[in-house]
Amino acid sequence: MTRRAVVIGAGHYLPERIVENAEFEATLDTSDEWIRSRSGIERRHFAAEGETTSQMATRAAQAALKSAGRTADDVDAIVLATSTADLTFPSAATMVQSQLGMTSGFAFDVQAVCAGFVYALANANALIASGQADRVLVIGAETFSRIMDWTDRSTCVLFGDGAGAVLLEAQDGTGSSDDRGILATDLNSDGRYRDLLYVDGGVATQNTGHLRMQGNQVFRHAVEKLAATAHTALDRAGVAADDVDWIVPHQANIRIIQGTAKKMGLPMDKVVVTVQDHGNTSAASIPLALSVGVERGQIKPGDLLVTEAIGGGLAWGAVVLRW
Ligand code: UT7
Repeated sequence: MTRRAVVIGAGHYLPERIVENAEFEATLDTSDEWIRSRSGIERRHFAAEGETTSQMATRAAQAALKSAGRTADDVDAIVLATSTADLTFPSAATMVQSQLGMTSGFAFDVQAVCAGFVYALANANALIASGQADRVLVIGAETFSRIMDWTDRSTCVLFGDGAGAVLLEAQDGTGSSDDRGILATDLNSDGRYRDLLYVDGGVATQNTGHLRMQGNQVFRHAVEKLAATAHTALDRAGVAADDVDWIVPHQANIRIIQGTAKKMGLPMDKVVVTVQDHGNTSAASIPLALSVGVERGQIKPGDLLVTEAIGGGLAWGAVVLRW
């Protein structure tokens, strides 16, 4: 018998305000055509004034609990992937814990930027496999609109806000790749590339700072590293790329998504794509895509999924799971 971390619910939250590409034409030397053709992004959501990452995370968590038919009392742990926590500390996860009315269990943040949700899933899986927890809420939530330099056209048109969540539950499996749940994970980082994508503020500068990115450099690393990490995780799970029903990638750029699918030998009709509607929501992009993929009727119980992401660090990784 193998203890598996099985997804039993998914949910998401997107802030009300939708900003179309054309809105940026008023203040920046850019165009809907440039943004659409270079990134695949058409629109994104921005949080309302005063709306925080933990509030959005709580809404997504509530939706995931509802879809699982569980309550916050059933949750042992919260693992929240974010790089835009409300405050330097405490963690956004503990804020979610209190907003959900939980007075037991434990909660912590994982900070691996756009790879955050993959890292969070791997950590939650380890908590379940070790017997530390039976049910874990895994959330990705971001308010990147708060760290944009609105004068930098090469970054501010790319990102959006939002939150997604899944509820993992310990279930007994046989140990084969036919089991539902997380089958394999692969995590990587390489701090030599930290200058390619970073925020130029924090505790050291005593201000929040703004996102800085050498986009074309990150792009170059992305396709190669994403296909490699996906293959490693698939090998570890004992499945072939051909067995995959859905790639659920980090949603940064449609050209990266297409390039990775091609390198994996899989057609685009096996890829869940939400980048056009959400932009790059960093750690929130994969759980948003999972929840939207279920809502659209794409992802069904028993489907074999591979998720993959890369971002600041550089940090990257992949998770193979059977839904
Ligand atoms: O999620 C974390 C990981 N991040 C990513 O995966 C992002 C990876 N990178 C990308 O998605 C792409 O590199 C971008 C979408 C950021 C940029 O696309 P690109 O094809 O790599 O363009 P580029 O950076 O090489 O820039 C091409 C041109 C430049 O002009 P020149 O130097 O050729 O005259 C830029 O100044 O496009 C210009 N440009 C813009 N033009 C109009 C940059 N941003 C804009 C803009 N509107 N918003």
